[in-house]
Amino acid sequence: MSIADKVMELARRRGFFWTSAELYGGVSGFLDFGPLGKLLKRKIEEKWRYWFVLRNQDFVVEIETPIIAPYKVFEASGHVSHFTDYMVECLKCGRKFRADHVIEEQTGLSGLEGLSEEQLTSIIVEKGVKCPECGGHLGGVKKFNLLFKTAIGPYSENVGFARPEAAQGMFTTFNRVYNVTRNKLPLGIAQVGKVMRNEISPRQGPIRLREFTIMELELFYDPQEPTCPVLDRGEVLRLVPEERVAKKDLTPIEVTVDEALKRGLVACEWLAYFMVTAQKFVQDLGIPWDKQMFVAKLPHERAHYASQVYDQVVKLERWGWVEVSGHAFRTDYDLRGHMASSGEDLRVYKQLPAEVEVEEVEARPVVEAIKEDFGAEAPAVVNALKLMPGERVLEEIQSKGFFEMGKFRVYQKHVSFEKVKKVVKGRRFIPFVAEPSFGAERLVYATMEYAYREREGRTILSLPPDVAPIEAVVLPLVNRDGLPEKAMEVYNALKLRGLVVEYDDSGSIGRRYARADEIGVPLAITIDHQTMEDGTVTVRDRDTWRQVRCPISELPEVIEAYVKRREAKGALKELFQ
Ligand code: GLY
Repeated sequence: MSIADKVMELARRRGFFWTSAELYGGVSGFLDFGPLGKLLKRKIEEKWRYWFVLRNQDFVVEIETPIIAPYKVFEASGHVSHFTDYMVECLKCGRKFRADHVIEEQTGLSGLEGLSEEQLTSIIVEKGVKCPECGGHLGGVKKFNLLFKTAIGPYSENVGFARPEAAQGMFTTFNRVYNVTRNKLPLGIAQVGKVMRNEISPRQGPIRLREFTIMELELFYDPQEPTCPVLDRGEVLRLVPEERVAKKDLTPIEVTVDEALKRGLVACEWLAYFMVTAQKFVQDLGIPWDKQMFVAKLPHERAHYASQVYDQVVKLERWGWVEVSGHAFRTDYDLRGHMASSGEDLRVYKQLPAEVEVEEVEARPVVEAIKEDFGAEAPAVVNALKLMPGERVLEEIQSKGFFEMGKFRVYQKHVSFEKVKKVVKGRRFIPFVAEPSFGAERLVYATMEYAYREREGRTILSLPPDVAPIEAVVLPLVNRDGLPEKAMEVYNALKLRGLVVEYDDSGSIGRRYARADEIGVPLAITIDHQTMEDGTVTVRDRDTWRQVRCPISELPEVIEAYVKRREAKGALKELFQ
């Protein structure tokens, strides 16, 4: 059995997670989390909060916004037009697949993400790619939008979508959160919550899900003040830059942040800061430094909103290098989209210490051309263009050939540029955004795979003590002589301390240790006959199976220090020296 199979078997049998709707044969892409899985996932989410929110609480706040949002939100964000995958249908059995995946599996070709429907269809025909289920002929490749669609209320025309990322909740609330946090930049807005993506044919168990928990942060900053004051430029990043990816060379380089920024490998300081943080967070889950790296996405592979993306990938036994987080430089793309679609001015105003003369590029709408191409929506386009920073419009038209503001795409013919000198007392600008975004379920799986060990024919889940779902187990050595009552006292004391503890009195002590090791309980506390004489218990370490005696009076404190902070205090010093 592969490690992946063993981890998934353990996950099902002991109640971490399993395929949802099992009663009805299961449904791909959805997971149920059982009692242990829920605890583990919650602790991973808490650890993310520690690394991304709490350590940065002087400039990061957490919010919560709804899963469902109206059509207009995702039209403005670009998801209605761009959030698509290519799909192909079997002409014989009617099953539908992700075209690039089927081609990759059957031909070994990779890097198909930028190809068109026609190009993918040609490859299918030329290489004789067939239906992976029945071997039938495949039809033409088509685009499929991954947004889950619903109707809000009883009006079918009132379309809403389940969010595919939490980020839009941060963009649509940006001006309000900015105001209530006293108008300061940089501002990080974080959110943890469910998102949904209607994947075409997810076939990778817990890795590719249609509904998952995202842990996401949007860091808004002034593009003219891009310094990240909390960044240590001496930190080292393990990354595969774009030029290597383009040559299909995925060997990482190890570079200091300073070098990565100077060489332009990472687009901005804030992105680098969160990449360093991401490395530490993932290491903190027990995934070593050399089993993770950042891989750049090529322009045609990137999400529509990003001008740079690094995927943080970890090495998994069955699936190879798998993305656990994405680090996207979103610039002003999202806010300008919401400005254009809502008509609201979401720019930030910064007062200058004194009046200054500035020279700026102004983007002037060419009204006739806009009327001709945008009809009734021309006024919205004209008004939006007036609020856009001219340099950005010019830059993007020069580099991409168009400038996108939500659902509107304007070309050179729609805008003229003029350099103007003016005296100003303040600046209005659209903040830039750097985004780290994690999928919680993949981290749950990866953490379990890296914790999986076998010793003397037994399974041990060596989870870091501060993510282990059950923190300690209390075991009376035998079910007589007052030992169960004493054990229950110990159990209650730990429970009242706020620890997650189990009481287990069934079966031999060896079997009980084995059961606890298998689900990763870091410490087992055994009440034996000596306890009744001197008030001490044995505390056993899951990983080494070593034991020490510890007075009951010290237990709550030393157990808490170990499972919350990995600190070996009191008698536990001897156990972990
Ligand atoms: N916001 C990150 C993503 O959509 O993947």
